[in-house]
Amino acid sequence: MTTIKRIAILTSGGDAPGMNAAIRAVVLAAHHYHIDIIGFYHGYNSLVCADNINQAQLLTLGDVNNIIHRGGTILKSARCLQMETEEGLKQAAKTLTSENIDALIVIGGDGSFHGLLALKVHWQGQLIGIPGTIDNDLDSTDFTIGFATAVNTAIEAIDKIRDTADAFERIFIVELMGRHSGHITFNVGIACGAEQVLSFENFSVEDKQTKLQQLANEIKSAQENRHSSYIIVIAENLWPGGAIELAKELKQEASIDCTACVLGHIQRGGSPVPKDRLLATKMGVAAIQAIINGETNIMIAEQHSAICHIALEQAVKHHKVVNQQLVDAQENILALTAQNQY
Ligand code: F6P
Repeated sequence: MTTIKRIAILTSGGDAPGMNAAIRAVVLAAHHYHIDIIGFYHGYNSLVCADNINQAQLLTLGDVNNIIHRGGTILKSARCLQMETEEGLKQAAKTLTSENIDALIVIGGDGSFHGLLALKVHWQGQLIGIPGTIDNDLDSTDFTIGFATAVNTAIEAIDKIRDTADAFERIFIVELMGRHSGHITFNVGIACGAEQVLSFENFSVEDKQTKLQQLANEIKSAQENRHSSYIIVIAENLWPGGAIELAKELKQEASIDCTACVLGHIQRGGSPVPKDRLLATKMGVAAIQAIINGETNIMIAEQHSAICHIALEQAVKHHKVVNQQLVDAQENILALTAQNQY
């Protein structure tokens, strides 16, 4: 029999497909143990807002009925700068105490987990993070909720771009999300057979001029040898001015016509793929079990298909790097295309 009675839950930062599935799992698992789940709306804002009336509500089984397949988050999401101030943190602690909350579950990325860590100094309740971000950049978990769906969405979009690019023998530069990490870019680029993958792992802005020349040479050589489409995928925040600027520079420096496409927030939306629904469900249930077992200051993670607990400090210490085998695979494939062997 647990002494836990009320658990708060919120979603914070960039929403990710599968957040709803995680909320649902938390509510269903808590119900099993006769624990109330209080949903706080608009990320941490509902905690730091002194007048949080209408910003928090008991989540019933009915509230989470038929949401496993829905993108976005029923709790809404936001970024909250007040969580970086002493005043905001104190208010958040006060809200949790006045609502008789025993534990707080936050579904989000590293910024959201920094908020949890800061809160630890001001509030004695249990703190649990569930990794939910399309960026997949949290260390110590193989995958974050939302990544698989974002990759799938981007692949579907680029496959369509490929059709029209092929028909017109056009060059496309497609910019993908990921903030400062290349997980989406590398996975999508390779899965789409992109001729070039440009990301933080294989490009540094100091080499911009050399890269521009190299790209121009490789595009020209590919076009001379085989008339067909050419797709460059590029991580956002990598090239100064992004895909649009790169297209302009290729035109100015090498008279190459490229069409730039910034895929943007389409990558954040849509129905979660099965992998995200399953990951979210396992993590949501694990969060409730961890709270009942008295755990705190942890992120629920998955490593080699097994759920585990990682100290929050560890989870935010480093950004997860892209698998080197993926980077190497792209290099090898690129070498073949550059030699026109395929
Ligand atoms: O962290 C998720 C993410 O979608 C990043 O990939 C992207 O850089 C950022 O959020 C965009 O944030 P916003 O929607 O606030 O512009």
